[in-house]
Amino acid sequence: MYYLGSKVKLLPFIQRTICDVAGIHLRDKVFCDIFAGSGAVSLAYKNDVGVLIANDMEYYSYVLLRNALRTKPLEGLDEAVKKLFTCKSVKGTIFKSYALGGGEGRNYFSDENAKTIDALRQGIETYASDEALYFCLLASLIESAHRVSNTASIYGAFLKDLKPLAQKVLEFKPLVYEQTLIPTQVYCEDANVLIERVEGDILYLDPPYNHRQYGANYHLLNTIARYDGFTPKGKTGVRAYVSSRYCKAKTAFFALEEMVRKAQFKTLVLSYNNEGLIPQEVVREMMKKYGRYELFSHEHQRFKAHAHHGKNLKTIEFLHVLEKKG
Ligand SMILES: C[S@@+](CC[C@H](N)C(=O)[O-])C[C@H]1O[C@@H](n2cnc3c(N)ncnc32)[C@H](O)[C@@H]1O
Repeated sequence: MYYLGSKVKLLPFIQRTICDVAGIHLRDKVFCDIFAGSGAVSLAYKNDVGVLIANDMEYYSYVLLRNALRTKPLEGLDEAVKKLFTCKSVKGTIFKSYALGGGEGRNYFSDENAKTIDALRQGIETYASDEALYFCLLASLIESAHRVSNTASIYGAFLKDLKPLAQKVLEFKPLVYEQTLIPTQVYCEDANVLIERVEGDILYLDPPYNHRQYGANYHLLNTIARYDGFTPKGKTGVRAYVSSRYCKAKTAFFALEEMVRKAQFKTLVLSYNNEGLIPQEVVREMMKKYGRYELFSHEHQRFKAHAHHGKNLKTIEFLHVLEKKG
């Protein structure tokens, strides 16, 4: 899925840099992707490292990661999908609160798609005892629903009229990845808390770099994933979320400093760009106190249609690398 801050396009730069600093042979290394998001970086490393640790504080991300990094065989998928296709549409939480037909005035999905999401989500719950299958079905639903959402790709607001993609009938496509053959650990925690309990060789850090809270911008994916009967309120129906310290100018630096200080990893690789809340020199000065520091940068064009009258803007992506002392 298109994901805010996704590193899909920057993977060659990230992998080249990690190769430069940690070598090409990572098979005996413990690699941790502690702000894993859509899982793009974890997926790129899942066959190359010794142990893979992935984490994100958002539950939808945890679901995507559990599916992408599955270590157990996936059995009964075709049968489950066939059975789910027979589910009759249901006027459940998503229809009642997030489609116009529900009467709450929110237009995140067409009425039909919202009822299908409710039916599929309720059907998926019957597979909860089989973790591999359950997370595969749930991740597939998150992706399928996201494709037909009536938003400008994030859920901070819905569009007034149904856009063409949102008028399409939801297609439930199984999202299947190859079984991961190395040990993996997947967490759904605040990275600054988890960092006290994990250790290893390479810690890849990709925190948010601006004020956009993921819990607010992807609230509906959490609601579909959790389906916990909460009552949406307000114009957007956003659910309560935990704010990330990395998204606030006042706290971002302290959160990052704490992470670097607590990290029990040999090499830290931090993705950040020149538009982030913490200036590049400030990150450098802080990191230098903890070991040998090196900066890698990569320039790329970003198209910002609204904010800058259709001009192409250059963004500099940084990788701050720290070989931690002691
Ligand atoms: C820039 S995105 C990561 C993108 C990811 N590398 C990818 O390619 O998809 C930042 C992620 O950090 C997560 N996040 C923000 N604050 C966090 C925290 N304190 N602990 C754990 N995850 C956090 C967000 O939910 C979001 O998924």
